[in-house]
Amino acid sequence: MKIINLGSKEEACHYVANELLKQIISNKKSVLGLATGGTMVRVYEQLVNLIRINEIDLSEITTFNLDEYIGIDYDHPESYYTYMHDVLFNHLPTWNEEKIHLPNGSAENLQEEIKRYEDLLDKEGPVDVQILGIGENGHIGFNEPGTSFDSLTSVVGLTQSTIEANSRYFETKEEVPEQAISMGIHSILKAKRIILLAYGPKKADAIRKLLTGEITTDLPASALYNHPNVEVILDNNAYLSEKEEI
Ligand code: GLP
Repeated sequence: MKIINLGSKEEACHYVANELLKQIISNKKSVLGLATGGTMVRVYEQLVNLIRINEIDLSEITTFNLDEYIGIDYDHPESYYTYMHDVLFNHLPTWNEEKIHLPNGSAENLQEEIKRYEDLLDKEGPVDVQILGIGENGHIGFNEPGTSFDSLTSVVGLTQSTIEANSRYFETKEEVPEQAISMGIHSILKAKRIILLAYGPKKADAIRKLLTGEITTDLPASALYNHPNVEVILDNNAYLSEKEEI
């Protein structure tokens, strides 16, 4: 695992956007693993600019998103389907909707849906570059502490900590869904390359725990130590508590 502190949020986001651009340029049929959350908003803004400047055609690019809420419709303002279209897909005309994949949290049969998604990942994958944020409790995707590192795409319950953290996007805490479909930890680790991005003081504690090197299901992100090609991109604030201890 490579740990790279780029100092500022802007530099950290630019690094991730530029790595996605380089992947797309290197192979116009790339498979990208995409993430949501506040962390990625600036990455996607920068990626949109880079793709426009370079006049890149995205029609053969496949994308897989990590997760989606259960219990709200796909067109709810806070669904990850809406987020991805608002922040990335709707800004560039050449995406091929048929190659954009998110789990369907409104599926009638959720067991069929998780199997469909994992099968599709296997068929269209492996993901060339998977980008990841990290939850304040160390989750990746919506794989909360305690999740087995062997997990595949499944229906997951959100912890109170995640519900609190994500309540800032909803009018009331009661509106935050309590369940989601998430790619599992094993599904995520099938990617060829993984880039985890964390910035801001709220992520410092999870990053400090990650950088101890202990591999434990208490910190889902520590599963990334079992992957040969992982970069952790940080700003000074996310890296701060580690530096203070040194
Ligand atoms: C969310 C998502 C994760 C994301 C994380 C951090 O709940 N399921 O994929 O990485 O939590 O979110 P944020 O970037 O808003 O802090």
